[in-house]
Amino acid sequence: MVISKELKRAREYEAEKGALVKDEERAVYHLSPRIGWLNDPNGFSFYNGKYHLFYQYHPYNTFWGPMHWGHVVSDDLISWEYLPATMAPDTDYDGAGCFSGSAITLDDGRQLLIYTGCSKVDLDEAGRWAQTQCVAVSSETEVGTTEYVKYEGNPVITSDHLPEGGDIYEFRDPFIWRASDGTFRAVVANANTSEGKATQLCIYKSPDGFKWEFAKVLFEDWRHIGVMWECPNFFPLGGRQILIASPMDMETEEADGSIRFPKGNNVVYMVGDYDEATETFTLARAASHEKSGQGALATYHPVDCGLDFYAPQVMETPDGRRVMIGWMQDPSIGNLHNDDDFNIFCQMTVPRELTLRNDRLIQWPVRELESYRDGNMVFASVELDDNERSLEGISGRVLDLEIELEPKDGAELYKSFSMKFASGCEDLYTELRYIPERSILTIDRSNSGQPDNYTKRRSIRVRNRGGALSLRILLDRWSAEVFINGGEQVMSTTFYTPLAADGITFSADGSAAIDITKYTITGK
Ligand code: FRU
Repeated sequence: MVISKELKRAREYEAEKGALVKDEERAVYHLSPRIGWLNDPNGFSFYNGKYHLFYQYHPYNTFWGPMHWGHVVSDDLISWEYLPATMAPDTDYDGAGCFSGSAITLDDGRQLLIYTGCSKVDLDEAGRWAQTQCVAVSSETEVGTTEYVKYEGNPVITSDHLPEGGDIYEFRDPFIWRASDGTFRAVVANANTSEGKATQLCIYKSPDGFKWEFAKVLFEDWRHIGVMWECPNFFPLGGRQILIASPMDMETEEADGSIRFPKGNNVVYMVGDYDEATETFTLARAASHEKSGQGALATYHPVDCGLDFYAPQVMETPDGRRVMIGWMQDPSIGNLHNDDDFNIFCQMTVPRELTLRNDRLIQWPVRELESYRDGNMVFASVELDDNERSLEGISGRVLDLEIELEPKDGAELYKSFSMKFASGCEDLYTELRYIPERSILTIDRSNSGQPDNYTKRRSIRVRNRGGALSLRILLDRWSAEVFINGGEQVMSTTFYTPLAADGITFSADGSAAIDITKYTITGK
């Protein structure tokens, strides 16, 4: 099989450098690249008996650059085996980058990747690349490996397939699925340049995955929420249909004294119903939808309420679970680091099982993670006061912690709770603070040694449980994912502090107690 010189070069570079990031430095149970830069998850799928995850990848340094696709496979969504780079930007239609996309299995058993090609030859005056949708198909080689071969008929969705006013220079991130009759659908993000300017998510259909036609504008937003909506996902869950997208450049949106959306790039979800016959998505207007800052009935919600989360992708497991993985990095600060001493940069979230309760998304780490728990330690009814208290054995940077916070019966409601972690070295720490009277939970990394221009904290309103709060906190060297009240909300954040900062302390202003279970997590 002939491999392009660009793909060959990437693979030779990978082979020559090996794993530049040492295992002792790398996240233990979160996917991170061995070398180079990683952003969006792509082609998240189950194929030929294994989970496959591809990702936006620039092998040559830890900055975003001409996009390749990296590839890992797994039996359990936690331990990943690294395969050689899968695609490189090597044609006229994708020579400026192979952007995000998704995967599906064809009837003949081959796997089809659909992705955005950024043209090397068609640019507008501003230097933006024309973006078209392209496919590549798996092919077994004589030596038993799998190559993904770009289709000779590429690109398969072009400017000819855009609705009026569509912008070919902002047209990307196809998300593919099969309709109930086995034919193919893909939703693709586009910026519309008609008056008023909107972002639109377009549905395309195909009998075979290769021949596509425009079906309908599935969803349109007249610049109410951000500008371009990147990386759409569209899938059934709990009797409803979920639309997830990543709008760029949102304005800050406040509600009830908390920030529903910080300024910048965010990920939103919407709950609705989908009529396949007419390709119509109708938003559910359930009572649980919050009021937005403007007082309007907000139909969109944050997927993750932390500081680092973007461009997630959702797949279906063989046992019918919907699992989501996201890029655990704020994209607006992605390039603000030093390549030499920051080769640990870039990672994915832990894969999360999605369920729907009262039309709201519930997220929980995939159950497979539990088999990586190695030994537990339990403390019950630990009374807290305003001294920062550490507990024997509760420390470290690679942990799965369950915490139940309770107010003291009969006592006045405590005023605040604080947990500091990744602490105890050079005055560094990252903090979770809770103010029960207002049900406000804050994640704060202003003492985590971040550059000035990083977003430092985010406060959200959680469900009022009279001072009770349950937290599951996944720490993995450079990150924390905080699952709140059984996964009703999640806060993900990174902090690149020395690993010697491994202390954990608790304190409260007033009478409160915690039950804590700590699991050590081991890699495999
Ligand atoms: C989202 C995104 C996608 C694009 C890719 C390029 O982070 O901007 O829209 O396909 O990254 O790497």
